[in-house]
Amino acid sequence: MVKQILTGWLVIAAMVSGLDAQNTKTLWLDELDVSNATAGWGRTRANKSVDGNVLTVNSQTFERGIGTHAEGQFTIRLDGSAAVFTAMVGVDDEIAQSPNGRHYASVTFLVIGDGKELFNSGAMKAQTSAKPVSVKLDGIKLFRLIASDSGDGIDYDHADWAMAKIEYNGSRPEAIEPIKPKPYILTPKPGPEPRITGPAVFGARPGNPFLFTVTATGERPMTFEARGLPKGLALDSQTGHITGTVEKTGKYQTTVAAKNSRGRAERSFTIVIGDTICLTPPMGWNSWNCWGCAVDDAKVRATARAMADTELIHHGWSYINIDDCWMRKRGSNDPVTGDPVRDKDGRILCNDKFPDMNALTDYIHGLGLKAGIYIGPGPTTCQNYEASWQHELLDAQQFAEWGFDYLKYDWCGYSSVSGNQTLEDLQRPYILMRQMLDQVGRDIVYSVCQYGWGEVWKWGGQIGGNCWRTTGDITDSWSSMAGIGFQQADLYSYAHPGHWNDPDMLVVGKVGWGPNLHDSHLTPDEQYTHISLWCLLSAPLLIGCPIEQMDEFTLNLLTNDEVLEVNQDPSGRQARCVKKDSTAQVWVKTMEDGSQAVGFFNLNGFEAAAISVNWQTLGLEPASRWRVRDLWRQKDLETAQGTFSTPQVPPHGVLLVRLFPHK
Ligand code: GAL
Repeated sequence: MVKQILTGWLVIAAMVSGLDAQNTKTLWLDELDVSNATAGWGRTRANKSVDGNVLTVNSQTFERGIGTHAEGQFTIRLDGSAAVFTAMVGVDDEIAQSPNGRHYASVTFLVIGDGKELFNSGAMKAQTSAKPVSVKLDGIKLFRLIASDSGDGIDYDHADWAMAKIEYNGSRPEAIEPIKPKPYILTPKPGPEPRITGPAVFGARPGNPFLFTVTATGERPMTFEARGLPKGLALDSQTGHITGTVEKTGKYQTTVAAKNSRGRAERSFTIVIGDTICLTPPMGWNSWNCWGCAVDDAKVRATARAMADTELIHHGWSYINIDDCWMRKRGSNDPVTGDPVRDKDGRILCNDKFPDMNALTDYIHGLGLKAGIYIGPGPTTCQNYEASWQHELLDAQQFAEWGFDYLKYDWCGYSSVSGNQTLEDLQRPYILMRQMLDQVGRDIVYSVCQYGWGEVWKWGGQIGGNCWRTTGDITDSWSSMAGIGFQQADLYSYAHPGHWNDPDMLVVGKVGWGPNLHDSHLTPDEQYTHISLWCLLSAPLLIGCPIEQMDEFTLNLLTNDEVLEVNQDPSGRQARCVKKDSTAQVWVKTMEDGSQAVGFFNLNGFEAAAISVNWQTLGLEPASRWRVRDLWRQKDLETAQGTFSTPQVPPHGVLLVRLFPHK
């Protein structure tokens, strides 16, 4: 009897386990919808490398799997009853065809289950054997595969998840779009009492029209005052606009004040009349990262209006810059007669989208803002529109006549006439336009754009550039933004008042480079990092989203006066990177008043981290005591002596502080 019961149980147990084994199914990841997977370059493919070749790691070929590129993520929803994930991971051989590729590629493969790291391959180089992965998935619901760049940029990071499969029992795993972290606001709104914002120093050339707006936050109505203005200038007490002309060079120490029913604030303001303008990095907007060639008069006006309405203007934002595509294209309108791109006197013509440039700049100036324009030294611009080749003086004169205050001069089409690219070739067109701008009797910020060629930071200032692009174009990905931003470390000695390294425009808010916009792909923490880093770098801050469509998060991000003060500091120093490893960096900028702006950056995209630094690394007296102020939250944290350790900094996030001497 007992024997019979036992046998019965054994039979049932065998049936159950047999059932289990029968029910366990295999899902190859290439069977999922891989269009949900992100890739830092190219696109993720099923059963092929990112370039479309047979998956191959160190000469071993794999018939199935997924080919992607760092930074790449693949998110899969499980029902908690999946058993195991297995794969062979490595850098695809296709990059080894290029000697650089072999050298630069390094991918870290991470497997994350419900926020916990289940597997970490370490940095894998090209032509190393594929590593086996085998992780248990018991109870896991959200499963992520990450191909990360190992913290050294994404170049050549072709990443293979070969033979990747999940054994599961319940419902079929499902590929989903990466989960987007929610925006969160850190900065309190400005108070009702007046607080003066914007630069504390401003430069203009003698005899040229002067335009500066004193800006302040606080309740309206507000009136403005100024004491000690040089001869030739007057302030409009209602608008805060200071206009006129100063003939005599010199440094004028003035005081500006703002008053409302809640009180009065005043601040010293230095006016420097001389050869150098743009004494603090320009702050404004540029049409390119949002509208690309879809820019038109109405869009520019809408943004300018919104710059005033959203009160961005009260925080010192001032330039409204039109990028490429405002001119005409040769032959585009009238192929028979040849579309005139210039009038009979050679003066450049706008296309239909810009019917009246003078009216547009009047509108911008009327709001207390400044206007910027774009062209290049070649026969055509990057987008093949008419450019300044052999019309440099006429164009400079036209820009001045139209009332522009900023010119971005972009190399692109010049390659067709430059001959070689010796240092002299690289400098020639920029020197020429500088000479032309010097003849037009207007202060025009001169932005040199040639992507950093010939180490432009070494000579961009000498040839009269106010800022110079140091890299290629930015896009709204972590690898692009962080790659460019953190690469600026060695250039700190080249930034000075009037001369700035330009790591390209901001990619926050809605971007798109054309008529269709999308929310920036940077996470909220990556956006805090972006603005913090650009401020520490003393970089030009040019917003690249339509301001009239700005959400509350983005507006908050761009209106923190304590953060913007780091950018606008009159010393004009660029922060130095003083501590660096593969997961964290610490940057410090000594401010004019001796305080220290310090950025603690967490380069790890998946885990929060505490980052610490000692005074020696920051270049401070070891025994000195400092008040540590969190600039994004506008809140004092503690007083620290000898060393400071941050609270947990979120993945790809930042803690930006300012250290003030503790009395
Ligand atoms: C690129 C430049 C961009 C944008 C674009 C317009 O060369 O780097 O910032 O101006 O041209 O075509």
